[in-house]
Amino acid sequence: MTDLTPTPEDKFSFGLWTVQYPGRDPFGDPTRAPMDPVRAVEKLAEIGAYGINFHDDDVVPFGTDDAERDRILDGLRKSLADTGLVVTTATTNLFSHPVFKDGGFTSNNREVRRFALKKVMRNIDLAAELGAKVYVAWGGREGAESGAAKDVMVALDRYREAFNLLGEFVTDRGYDIKFAIEPKPNEPRGDILLPTVGHAMAFISTLDRPELVGVNPEIGHEEMAGLNAAAGYAQALWQGKLFHIDLNGQNGPRYDQDLRFGAGNVRGAFWVVDTLLAGGYDGPVHFDFKTPRTEDDNGVWVAAEACMTNYLILREKALAFRADPEVQGALADAQLPDLARPTLAEGESWSDIEAAEVPDIEAIGAQGMAFERLDQLALEHLYGVRS
Ligand code: GCO
Ligand code: MN
Ligand code: MN
Repeated sequence: MTDLTPTPEDKFSFGLWTVQYPGRDPFGDPTRAPMDPVRAVEKLAEIGAYGINFHDDDVVPFGTDDAERDRILDGLRKSLADTGLVVTTATTNLFSHPVFKDGGFTSNNREVRRFALKKVMRNIDLAAELGAKVYVAWGGREGAESGAAKDVMVALDRYREAFNLLGEFVTDRGYDIKFAIEPKPNEPRGDILLPTVGHAMAFISTLDRPELVGVNPEIGHEEMAGLNAAAGYAQALWQGKLFHIDLNGQNGPRYDQDLRFGAGNVRGAFWVVDTLLAGGYDGPVHFDFKTPRTEDDNGVWVAAEACMTNYLILREKALAFRADPEVQGALADAQLPDLARPTLAEGESWSDIEAAEVPDIEAIGAQGMAFERLDQLALEHLYGVRS
């Protein structure tokens, strides 16, 4: 086994809110003390992280006056300079305050929508100053619990208006920042707009500046929708839209578990890492998890470190799988090289297909595809009996 110590080249980054999560849930009070952002930065640097992501309110509590905000931000800047941690990403809290109970960009209340945009722009200014290249937009409150409460088509007009305005804002200010929409099917709303990677990418194609907006798929969110997360990452890569990633763990369609990366659906996590490597993803390897409220402060750091360890383990296994000569033979038996060949030959058109001889379809139909052997090899790599 190679060294499992994170290095800056691994680009591991964490949302400050992940380690700050005090263990509050809908049924119970926090089980851990609030964590100052400066402590979060220092401890993340200590365990080997490269970068951070934060919501405005993770650093400066909602409603703080300007003087106090400046004081807090100076503390953050100093801790970043002292530790060398990079701000890879930033985002906005448009979900905690009661004003956002019906959403931010798509609240039925116009005043709320205008306030939400102002809040986002203010934090983009800070994000740009701190060097963030990606601005995540998770619209957890953009949605509804009942049918007539939200006119989905009109809400999508407002959603588009918001991204068009923000695209204009970063362009006018000359910021080198792109947006990454984070899909989620439900929770906290009964149904959330842009519920999956596919919905989000289709929406992005309608924007004025689609090149400025991509997706930030979270493993758990795709699995909550019963989807194969790796397939979603693959399509986002294929469309040039994988601007950011939220890695964590989930056990199938149920509430958002936000387990540490590598826990939950281990097999799914293996294929996500394999997909990221195959697709050449080179952005921050970002974790978005919540340490269960059963744990104390020590458990928080155990979980955070484990996200990175598990990524390094799975990366080694995915690379070993791809390098294994038996796997390469099995891939050929499974006809993967044939899938990589265009269906038409150079210069052919539909008329060549129309005129083509029908192959021996009975013989082809009787042939096995040899996928079971291929998948078993993957499992044996994952189970650790091959390397
Ligand atoms: C969740 C989401 C959030 C977002 C975060 C960034 O389900 O709670 O994953 O953690 O990622 O708000 O915008
Ligand atoms: Mn989540
Ligand atoms: Mn997330």
